[in-house]
Amino acid sequence: YRTLDGVDVAGKRVLMRADLNVPLRDGRITDLTRLERLSPTIVELSGKGAKVIVLSHFDRPKGKRVESMSLRPVAGALGEVLGREVGFVEDCVGDAVAAAVGAMQDGDVLVLENTRFHEGEEANDVALAMLIATHGEMFVNDAFSAAHRAHATTEGIARLLPSYAGRLMQAELDALNAALGTPQRPVGAIVGGSKVSTKLDLLTNLITKVDLLVIGGAMANTFLAAQGAELGKSLQETALHPTALEILAAAEKHGCRILLPVDFVVSETFAANPPTEVVSARNVPANAMALDVGPATTDEIIEAVKGLKTLIWNGPLGAFETPPFDTATMRLAAAVAEATEAGMISVGGGGDTVAALKQAGIIERMTYVSSAGGAFLEWMEGKALPGVAALAA
Ligand code: 3PG
Repeated sequence: YRTLDGVDVAGKRVLMRADLNVPLRDGRITDLTRLERLSPTIVELSGKGAKVIVLSHFDRPKGKRVESMSLRPVAGALGEVLGREVGFVEDCVGDAVAAAVGAMQDGDVLVLENTRFHEGEEANDVALAMLIATHGEMFVNDAFSAAHRAHATTEGIARLLPSYAGRLMQAELDALNAALGTPQRPVGAIVGGSKVSTKLDLLTNLITKVDLLVIGGAMANTFLAAQGAELGKSLQETALHPTALEILAAAEKHGCRILLPVDFVVSETFAANPPTEVVSARNVPANAMALDVGPATTDEIIEAVKGLKTLIWNGPLGAFETPPFDTATMRLAAAVAEATEAGMISVGGGGDTVAALKQAGIIERMTYVSSAGGAFLEWMEGKALPGVAALAA
């Protein structure tokens, strides 16, 4: 793919695909991270004299106008993050856009309305992509986190205009490639979360790429139960026992060491600070459920991580939102931060993971934390992301 290095953007109308899909609660933006991480590309383009026209989806309005999903307040927040005025137009195609773009000065920034208000966006409709493309002379995609969608403004438009990766896209791709493309070995992955079923493709791909795979979270239960462990009331997916065994066998074939929990912190109820007990991962009492991996498991994972040169982390080890079941995840996070400071490359991503890393206060101490959720997972699954593939075409 082409980066913005050496590209003359002065005076040009640049259509920039961003991911302004920020979390909202009661009409307020609760996390500005995505806007902050987009800023360098906007500042660079604007500073070089481009007219920056920002495109994005917001939430899932399903092809029609939904007022609560307007990007207007997000454009305002982007202006605050950038510390400058940012224009806004209530559509992403049509006369109003043409007029607003026509009135832009070099260096101006304009946000267009939610592209998913048009059905053609998710349908990757060429006609819509062509209409949007008329407003620009070149395309910059800085939305890695939306690159797993083959939509008109992520994929279609890249085929119509000279296209480049923005700085955030470039940073994401460089970090992910360093972690899984051509990693320094040994490379390990920590995969947690509640369900094997949502991470099947991911596990199947990882065992062919990494030297060590740590499985935590409730998905570990399914593997242990498949091996005959007693898991009491713990969450698990019985139907996936054969699949879990197949994954373990395939891992062995590929020389990938799998680390499963040896002990659990269990409780009879899932609530904050209930009475807990540490038990063997082979023998959870019938009335109890595993809610975090135990101290022996955590020690073993930390020891294993210390021997890695590269680590990818997706998914918490336990029910980290509810204390004390955050203990293993927080201890591991501290160890990952220390190992990173000692030279390991560490990359984290996926919605829950970022929340856990934030809770642990180690976002800044990791080599790279992705801004993507679904796109990060699909990348870990080894899938080509349409938004990235179109940039390389
Ligand atoms: C995300 O938040 O992961 C991206 O913005 C993609 O959103 P989507 O899942 O609605 O396509």
